[in-house]
Amino acid sequence: MAIYSSLTRLNLEILVAICLLSTVLCVRTKEKIYVQLSGTSACFRRLNATHQVGCSSAIGGNVGVIHLVSDETDFHWLIKNGPHEPYMALIYAVNFTLDNVLRLQNSGRVNGIMVLDSDNDTSLMPEDGFSPDESCPGDQYGLYADDPDYKNCQKTTWNPVGKAMMFQDYSLPIFVLTNQTEINSILSFYETFNKPGVDGKARDYPLLAIEMKDAMDAAKDSQTCIRRSNLVVNLNPLKYCDPLGDQNVIATVKAIPRNASNSYSVIFAATRMDTFSLFENEYPSADSSVTGIVALLAAAEALAKSQDDIINSHTSKDIVFVFFNGEAFDYIGSSRMIYDMEHNSFPPNTAAQNLNWNNISHFIEVSQLGHRDEDKLWIHSDPISRKNETVRSEIDTLINMIKSIAVDADVPMDEADVANPLPPASVQQFLKKKNISSVVISDHKTAYTNKFYNSRLDVAKTINETYPPDLNETERYDYITEQAKMLANVSTTIARALYNLSTGDTPPREIEADPQTVAHMLYCFLHNPKCELFKQILDAEDNKDLANAKKPFPFYVGVDSTKNHVTKLTKNLLALFLGRKINGTSEDACRKQNETNKIYKYIWMLGPVVGNKREGVCIESTADETDAISPAFVVPDYDWSSGKYSTWTESSWTVISAQIFLVPSKQLETTILSVGVVILLVSCLLIWFCNQRLDILFKKSYSYAVSMDID
Ligand SMILES: *[C@@H]1O[C@H](CO)[C@@H](O)[C@H](O)[C@H]1NC(C)=O
Ligand SMILES: *[C@@H]1O[C@H](CO)[C@@H](O)[C@H](O)[C@H]1NC(C)=O
Ligand SMILES: *[C@@H]1O[C@H](CO)[C@@H](O)[C@H](O)[C@H]1NC(C)=O
Ligand SMILES: *[C@@H]1O[C@H](CO)[C@@H](O)[C@H](O)[C@H]1NC(C)=O
Ligand SMILES: *[C@@H]1O[C@H](CO)[C@@H](O)[C@H](O)[C@H]1NC(C)=O
Ligand SMILES: *[C@@H]1O[C@H](CO)[C@@H](O)[C@H](O)[C@H]1NC(C)=O
Ligand SMILES: *[C@@H]1O[C@H](CO)[C@@H](O)[C@H](O)[C@H]1NC(C)=O
Ligand SMILES: *[C@@H]1O[C@H](CO)[C@@H](O)[C@H](O)[C@H]1NC(C)=O
Ligand SMILES: *[C@@H]1O[C@H](CO)[C@@H](O)[C@H](O)[C@H]1NC(C)=O
Ligand SMILES: *[C@@H]1O[C@H](CO)[C@@H](O)[C@H](O)[C@H]1NC(C)=O
Ligand SMILES: *[C@@H]1O[C@H](CO)[C@@H](O)[C@H](O)[C@H]1NC(C)=O
Ligand SMILES: *[C@@H]1O[C@H](CO)[C@@H](O)[C@H](O)[C@H]1NC(C)=O
Repeated sequence: MAIYSSLTRLNLEILVAICLLSTVLCVRTKEKIYVQLSGTSACFRRLNATHQVGCSSAIGGNVGVIHLVSDETDFHWLIKNGPHEPYMALIYAVNFTLDNVLRLQNSGRVNGIMVLDSDNDTSLMPEDGFSPDESCPGDQYGLYADDPDYKNCQKTTWNPVGKAMMFQDYSLPIFVLTNQTEINSILSFYETFNKPGVDGKARDYPLLAIEMKDAMDAAKDSQTCIRRSNLVVNLNPLKYCDPLGDQNVIATVKAIPRNASNSYSVIFAATRMDTFSLFENEYPSADSSVTGIVALLAAAEALAKSQDDIINSHTSKDIVFVFFNGEAFDYIGSSRMIYDMEHNSFPPNTAAQNLNWNNISHFIEVSQLGHRDEDKLWIHSDPISRKNETVRSEIDTLINMIKSIAVDADVPMDEADVANPLPPASVQQFLKKKNISSVVISDHKTAYTNKFYNSRLDVAKTINETYPPDLNETERYDYITEQAKMLANVSTTIARALYNLSTGDTPPREIEADPQTVAHMLYCFLHNPKCELFKQILDAEDNKDLANAKKPFPFYVGVDSTKNHVTKLTKNLLALFLGRKINGTSEDACRKQNETNKIYKYIWMLGPVVGNKREGVCIESTADETDAISPAFVVPDYDWSSGKYSTWTESSWTVISAQIFLVPSKQLETTILSVGVVILLVSCLLIWFCNQRLDILFKKSYSYAVSMDID
């Protein structure tokens, strides 16, 4: 009995030891061999009604030996000579062009591309610019799609650097690596292990390899993927893709009454909120949309100083501030607003009379404002509307008014060539319905002055929104850059022009945008969202989210099922600027009013620190959200081939990761494999052995436990 039990004890102990050891060993080996890269973003797949675009890896990921391509020699070596294919190409941001990507892809010897693009402030930018958008953005869905004189950017190519890289279907994964530390270590590993000799002789094993994983679930086109997603094959339907979309933000100066007169007319002041880029989480949008968002918000704040004149007048026109979302993807937000107007559901506020394009007397849109052409801003108008004499004279009056106000506010501004059509702008969707007198104010006279339109490189430093060195974060937050001063003057101009259009009166001098607010917004949107302004305008819950933010919030519309931070922040800022503080209201009471009052919305914000805590404020305003999801996903039985509405969806995926590891020599690899096989066989035998003696093992261990007790 004693002998038997001690034998079993031994058996058990060995078993436990083997298990423990192998777990520990496995973890250790994995950690030692693979190094996960933390600072990467991947290009992923999107689909529209007819195509799939973007990137995907194989299901298990793509693997290859790395090779740095920085000049023609490297290229040639990789495409023709390198003996260790497949390769993963490392490429610097300056060389990341459509041509180079296609050369690598079409060589058939490259399994993936890693772009080295440090987020270091001093890193180099491609001198000729970089834009993954088309050279004629959104043209197919714009006002001029079918116009023989203006379609396809015949008069002006707005985005000449745009090579439409965003709209290619790549057969390999493309990642961007931004972490400077990781770039440095990959490059030094490359020098040590992979870099071919001066004579072009390939290095021997071990070689550094990389594995990129971003397998996409959806394929072909949106229609196919939505249909597949809707198939109810089991109780847990899989989603292969989601429609792009979010919310537009709107606010009116007056509260639109239910019983408005027939002539109720409004002025639209609009801009767009979103951008895109090839890579996940890289959506800075400094000039593409932030300059416009900030300028329009600051204009709202400035106008609010005299808004009582407008609110209390019976003859004044209302002003609607609109921030469109999803515009970068074939005008999702503006086309949806038109659709809502067609269906008498705009504004969403049920207590207000419905509005449509017939009620819009003027439309002022601000576009990119940061890179002023000839140091001026430019006013664009639509040549088709101008064919109508009445409309033409209205537009000319509008432009002259804005120009004279601009002079007063110290903003150099001029009119762009009237023979040119409008640049890509949300107002185009409205002009499809009616010739509204409208202008688009932007920083370019003809082609974009922004060389990084809708790209990951459209960062703060390209609009000179940078701070002197040796300022701490508090000082940076308050620092008023030249850009902030100029944008504030633009906001003053817009606010005064809106006042004049609404009341017909000369705008009072007190309408003046605050450069400090502009500076704060630029800092918060472009540098660091964990700033005092954002803390003040969010409630306690959202402040917790904010505390986890690692970088500026993305200006990408994203999928409709997740809410954008930028949308909420923009709405809350607009509410703060145009709304009023309700005194002595608790958080609960504030939220309750939201449910009962149909005209105003109530937002609870933490507010400024008073004493040593934030007391919280209740803001009453008209700021609201409207759907920015393409009508294509709303219209029953939408005709996907009609090309009427945006049809963009984003593929879902399970994992995105990139890791590097050393491939030992082929010989060592074989040895490791053989050892692995031997271990496998041994464990199989062991298990078989255990299985055979299961009853003995367990009975004895039980008796062992019992005997322990007795001892
Ligand atoms: C990469 O960029 C550098 C610097 O602009 C240039 O000298 C080189 O020729 C480029 N290489 C390729 C392959 O485009
Ligand atoms: C950023 O780049 C500059 C100049 O190339 C370099 O001196 C600095 O060390 C870099 N910063 C980091 C974090 O690598
Ligand atoms: C879908 O995208 C592709 C690539 O940009 C484009 O050629 C095609 O016209 C688009 N289809 C529709 C219906 O918009
Ligand atoms: C960059 O990568 C290093 C090493 O993986 C990591 O320690 C560091 O936190 C990363 N930096 C950032 C800003 O993510
Ligand atoms: C709308 O109705 C309210 C009362 O319900 C009234 O005070 C107001 O004058 C009306 N406005 C118009 C424009 O008729
Ligand atoms: C908008 O204009 C139409 C006429 O085009 C008018 O019937 C309607 O009442 C107006 N809406 C409002 C809110 O005044
Ligand atoms: C940024 O500043 C530099 C130097 O002052 C100037 O040459 C450049 O035009 C400025 N860029 C913008 C977008 O203002
Ligand atoms: C021109 O526009 C005005 C105002 O929108 C409209 O009333 C008029 O019918 C238009 N004229 C022509 C010739 O289309
Ligand atoms: C705008 O006016 C032009 C010229 O009169 C006309 O051809 C066009 O159809 C009008 N647009 C709309 C939407 O009515
Ligand atoms: C930044 O510097 C100012 C003085 O210029 C100082 O008052 C402030 O406390 C500093 N803030 C931080 C976070 O260090
Ligand atoms: C709230 O109180 C402040 C002063 O504490 C006052 O200026 C403001 O008018 C009050 N607002 C309302 C809506 O009563
Ligand atoms: C009020 O309702 C809107 C949606 O109708 C919501 O976005 C907002 O957060 C609510 N405000 C409060 C204070 O609950």
